[in-house]
Amino acid sequence: MSYFERHIFFCLNHRENGDNSCAQHGAQAGFDHCKARVRELGLGGQGGVRVNKAGCLDRCAGGPVAVVYPEAVWYTYVDQTDIDEIVDKHLKGGEVVERLVLPDSVGR
Ligand code: FES
Repeated sequence: MSYFERHIFFCLNHRENGDNSCAQHGAQAGFDHCKARVRELGLGGQGGVRVNKAGCLDRCAGGPVAVVYPEAVWYTYVDQTDIDEIVDKHLKGGEVVERLVLPDSVGR
């Protein structure tokens, strides 16, 4: 068994030159809300869920993006409601939130 049951990585990349990046689309707020929600529900720690920052994940066109392992499910999100659904259904229950899944065709 792995140390954490699930990991979610949020791209928080910010491009100084103004080019498109997840930071322009609310990534920090999404990350902060996810951390708080996981803490509030007591999901963190060994055997639980880990919420991590990441740099560019190379799928900028779908930003803001986050990816959940070990399932390798990619998400895009808009607001706190979306983050709540990812936490409650996927991070806690293992159920993929299909409506937020990033299509495979979305890249950089
Ligand atoms: S800037 Fe977020 S995936 Fe590239």
